[in-house]
Amino acid sequence: MNTEAVVDIRDLTVTFTGGRGAVNAVNGVNLQVKRGEVVALLGESGSGKSVTLRSLLRLHPEKRTRISGGLTVLGQDVMALKGAALTGFRGKTVSMIFQEPLLALDPVYAVGQQISEAIRKHEPKVSREDAEKRALEALKRVRIPSPERRLKAFPHEMSGGMRQRAMIALALACNPQVLLADEPTTALDATVQIQILLLLRELQRELGLSVILVTHDIGVAVEVADRIAVMYAGRIVETGPVRDVIRNPSHPYTRGLLAFRAHGAMKGARLDAIPGAPPDLAKLPPGCAFAPRCKQADEGCGSTQPEPVQLGLEHWARCLKLAQAAE
Ligand SMILES: Nc1ncnc2c1ncn2[C@@H]1O[C@H](COP(=O)(O)OP(=O)(O)OP(=O)(O)O)[C@@H](O)[C@H]1O
Ligand SMILES: [Mg+2]
Repeated sequence: MNTEAVVDIRDLTVTFTGGRGAVNAVNGVNLQVKRGEVVALLGESGSGKSVTLRSLLRLHPEKRTRISGGLTVLGQDVMALKGAALTGFRGKTVSMIFQEPLLALDPVYAVGQQISEAIRKHEPKVSREDAEKRALEALKRVRIPSPERRLKAFPHEMSGGMRQRAMIALALACNPQVLLADEPTTALDATVQIQILLLLRELQRELGLSVILVTHDIGVAVEVADRIAVMYAGRIVETGPVRDVIRNPSHPYTRGLLAFRAHGAMKGARLDAIPGAPPDLAKLPPGCAFAPRCKQADEGCGSTQPEPVQLGLEHWARCLKLAQAAE
């Protein structure tokens, strides 16, 4: 194992069974996140971004999910965690924030109470009074105005941006080392979005967090991340330091995303604007899943699974045309 990697995902495959056949949501994802690094996971709807993040917290319905591959966080084998160890891991080692804070915050409890209870759940020895003090600190940390008053506020009494700040406070209350952020700003309007992203970046630096940030917006990825991983049909098709991927986008799908942005259509636009539709995850083609939408594809692309081609120190892409060009 790369000792530098805080999060180490090796050949992760996630298949949902039951219903109408097997859905191959994630198909051999490799992703490492170093200490203090922000990796943006980019890709259109249904590409497997959330499933990848949820795997790290073991949030899938166990009976209907087949998972294989390796999931390691700070040297711990995530798949082997059980009972109290798994509960402790969620929130204390790895925490997650979601697009819609109302799903994570409980509507019937005041925000301060939710934070102090989360602290006491993970650290039962902490007194109620100390947990309340820490909840106040947590609200201050996310720069909520009048934090003393907000401790007693209910989620519905807060604006969208404020709720998102409260959710970040809750996610960070137990001092996790890894933060998974699943489109944390898409539900917010543009100015609030920027404020929340800046806050996340500041906290990430201050606390040395390793972050995986899921986003539809390549502009957000460029602003916030150190590294980009582009997902398509449950695979990472290109990954590299932000600068390399922007200067030398090498997978046709990544180039499509960037061309779309260059035409001024970006800024909050969805990635789905590349012509064509993503493949049916129950019937993936034997070759490259992007081939049916790719202008460069030929017959070989539909039948051969492309291996990763190295383009720079940490930059690689999976495309048969790149492999052929390199030969
Ligand atoms: N519990 C589940 N059971 C069955 N299928 C699932 C389950 N969870 C996710 N899927 C399917 O897995 C695929 C990938 O879903 P995922 O939520 O990871 O997409 P995503 O990249 O996060 O998309 P979005 O940008 O819309 O959030 C989708 O086809 C989805 O319907
Ligand atoms: Mg998602």
